[in-house]
Amino acid sequence: MTRYAHVTGWGMAVPDRILTNTDLEEMVDTTAEWIVSRTGIQERRIAAAHESTASLATEAACKALEPTNLDPVDVELIIVASATPEHFFPATACLVQDTIGAVNAGAFDLSAACTGFIFALNMAAQAIRSGSLDNAIVIGAEVLSRFVNWEDRNTCILFGDGAAAFVVQASDTPGGVLSCVMRSDGSGGDLLSLPAGGSRMPTTQDTLDRKLHTIQMNGREVFRFATREMAAATRQATQKAGLEISDINLVIPHQANRRIIEAAARGLRIPMDRMMMNIEKFGNTSSASIPLAVCEAMDEERIHPGDHLVLVGFGAGLTWGALVMEWIEPDRVVSTTRKIRRRFLLILARIRSFALRILRKIEGWIWGTSIKPK
Ligand code: ACO
Repeated sequence: MTRYAHVTGWGMAVPDRILTNTDLEEMVDTTAEWIVSRTGIQERRIAAAHESTASLATEAACKALEPTNLDPVDVELIIVASATPEHFFPATACLVQDTIGAVNAGAFDLSAACTGFIFALNMAAQAIRSGSLDNAIVIGAEVLSRFVNWEDRNTCILFGDGAAAFVVQASDTPGGVLSCVMRSDGSGGDLLSLPAGGSRMPTTQDTLDRKLHTIQMNGREVFRFATREMAAATRQATQKAGLEISDINLVIPHQANRRIIEAAARGLRIPMDRMMMNIEKFGNTSSASIPLAVCEAMDEERIHPGDHLVLVGFGAGLTWGALVMEWIEPDRVVSTTRKIRRRFLLILARIRSFALRILRKIEGWIWGTSIKPK
């Protein structure tokens, strides 16, 4: 029997704090008019001190699980795509796994910048289609505001924080993820990077003084690359799915710049009403931008059962890719008992996590293996 991988749940989480273009006028030498006309961005969300990539990812994952028939203990895989993970390690996905109590799930992070969600969704879908798993949660989550140089007008106007998640499940109903192209070109790595803090350039006073722990970008080159590859990747993935561009109901592109999205529409010879755009509200949220746009397109009823969608993105790496899916309306009737049980399990997961940490500490004292912080 052929297996298919369908999106059965989706959810988003964005911080409450809004940073408008007018606010940015007070911070750097720019104008609200310049930002809107050159990028399409009107405002972006900025994480509060208590929020982080893992907290936003967890909130999005819980919302995505809500309409499904899965409890956290049923989840088999969690992938977090992020360019701004909680730590180098442990993986942000492991923190989500612990907080939601997905005790039977493998969890890992995937680093492909703004293309990360497409790569992660394809990995999960292929694992499900092969029979290796029955379900997965795929999350795009970023707190880019903590890696932005707020004195650099070339970059600080672009980025925002947020997260969105899909639950993907096996089904024998044809549709779901149909095809994907995944591409990269490391020779362009220096066009968009966060140079310091890794093994190549460990943190020193000099790297801090030179702000090498913040996003460095050659905007014009990234722009040229993006306008070239978005339409090409969309065509390749569509062809791979055995479809024509005219069969595609909605393209959901990475939200980096309105002009890049318009260029892609021109390259594909499709009208702008077949391109999803919400960049004005959230700016560039890197790996979260595509699933956030899908969530909003669902809210706006721009996606219907049977629609063919293309998710297309590009980003640091350089990486780029496109994924074609046929949207099948999932069965979203979830019993009240299951809803209550899931809420209870989420509370239990937090208690379990807390208890395990305490237990480990006690064991550490008994066996003399506890590590004292320096
Ligand atoms: N306000 C006012 N002027 C500005 C600002 C600003 N915020 N930023 C730049 N300028 C100036 C520049 O200094 C330049 O002045 P100059 O001619 O005196 O040197 C002038 O505006 C034009 O600069 P350009 O770089 O040519 O502006 P452009 O129209 O290309 O827009 C932008 C810049 C918005 C960065 C654009 O190049 C872009 O969107 N590039 C793609 C970036 C991107 O998508 N990055 C994310 C990739 S995804 C990921 O992995 C995170």
